[in-house]
Amino acid sequence: MYTSIPKGLTDLTLAIEKGTNAVVTSKYNPFYYHGALPQFYLWVLFISGLLLFAYYIPTIENAYFSENLVNAWTSVNYITNVLPMGAVIRGIHRYAGDAMVLTIVLHALRVWITDRYRQYRWIQWVTGVALLFLVLFIGQTGYYLVWDERSLILTRMTVSALGALPFVGEGLQKWFLNGTAITNLTLSNFLFIHIGLSFSLLFGLWMHYVRMTRPVITPPPAINYMLTAVLLVFVFLYPITSGKMADLNSMPTSFEIDWFFLWPYAMMASMNLGMYWVLILGGAIAFTCVPLPQLYKASHPIESAEVVLNKCTGCSLCSQDCPYSAIEMVPAPAGSRFKLLATVKAYRCSGCGVCVGACAFDAIDLPNLLDTDVKAKIKALAEAK
Ligand code: HEM
Ligand code: SF4
Ligand code: SF4
Repeated sequence: MYTSIPKGLTDLTLAIEKGTNAVVTSKYNPFYYHGALPQFYLWVLFISGLLLFAYYIPTIENAYFSENLVNAWTSVNYITNVLPMGAVIRGIHRYAGDAMVLTIVLHALRVWITDRYRQYRWIQWVTGVALLFLVLFIGQTGYYLVWDERSLILTRMTVSALGALPFVGEGLQKWFLNGTAITNLTLSNFLFIHIGLSFSLLFGLWMHYVRMTRPVITPPPAINYMLTAVLLVFVFLYPITSGKMADLNSMPTSFEIDWFFLWPYAMMASMNLGMYWVLILGGAIAFTCVPLPQLYKASHPIESAEVVLNKCTGCSLCSQDCPYSAIEMVPAPAGSRFKLLATVKAYRCSGCGVCVGACAFDAIDLPNLLDTDVKAKIKALAEAK
């Protein structure tokens, strides 16, 4: 093992998982769906978001439709207080967002603690970090959309923070505001960013999953029902409300923090903006690079599996078992007794050796770890006991 994870931590996590198995059985153990849980909340967010979108009006001032002011804040108010089930949908959307952040963090911790993040899995790690930051940013834009006093403070703080970035700051401010000041266009931009980036998560997830043959992305229905029930408990116990409508002529200063999404604003408020960016960007880079030292420390680089051509029967068991879709079954050359032949796509192979175990004909090997050597080692270990 080339790992820097404290062994006690790994043992403790595995012991907790084993204990949970004893209570709910491994089929319903939520620890085994650590990646599927954020994915579940993403679907909930898409569905509830779509329903909210149907009634949301992304403007600050708009007396267009009637004598009454119709804008983002009043539309959110309408959803919450008038629309049947509106408050429930809004609550589900909010708490599913919080739960998604929480489960992403737990998922990242789980893959790190159980040493499933480095070497071949660096792509999952790096795309995972990008997904986490995207989710955080999308969630923050959700808070701007409500257009209450908190939205106004967050918008102003973001504009100041972007302005502190050298070279790109001014351009980013204009992009963020959709102009040089907060106007109706700003809110339509927020809505566009919120929804557009949410869809880009799907592309990020595709990259996250592309090297896995069978990623576990759906928890069993029983877990889905339980997660939905817990969400509903929060929705009814802690209903979501808006603050006062934002007034561009006022300067509100204090706001309630949602620690899942808005912690960067607590940081901004407690330090100078230069330091804030050093910590945020430095933290993001350090988090992204977690698997890097392990990539170089590995004493043997990844050696892809190799098929022993004259032994392969084309049974395709190795291809079915390979966790990374690295084995393709191709037509066997003319004159062969068999129809198919296994071929390894070296660029997808992690060198895990699962195929070696799957093959009953000793027809696939890891060049640095031959099947016969492994068997000899196991035999020696068994005899030594
Ligand atoms: C939108 C957020 C995310 C979702 C929906 C997600 C989902 C998933 C799923 C479904 C799997 C497959 C799990 C399995 O089959 O056992 C997975 C694997 C993985 N994820 Fe994520 N993930 C997210 C974010 C992250 C983050 C933030 C990290 C780390 C920084 C990360 C690191 C990994 C790694 C290293 C694996 C491979 C684990 C293995 O092969 O056992 N993911 N992810
Ligand atoms: S399991 Fe062995 S025999 Fe079967 S296709 Fe794979 S390499 Fe060939
Ligand atoms: S070693 Fe075998 S099972 Fe593992 S990734 Fe490579 S081809 Fe697939």
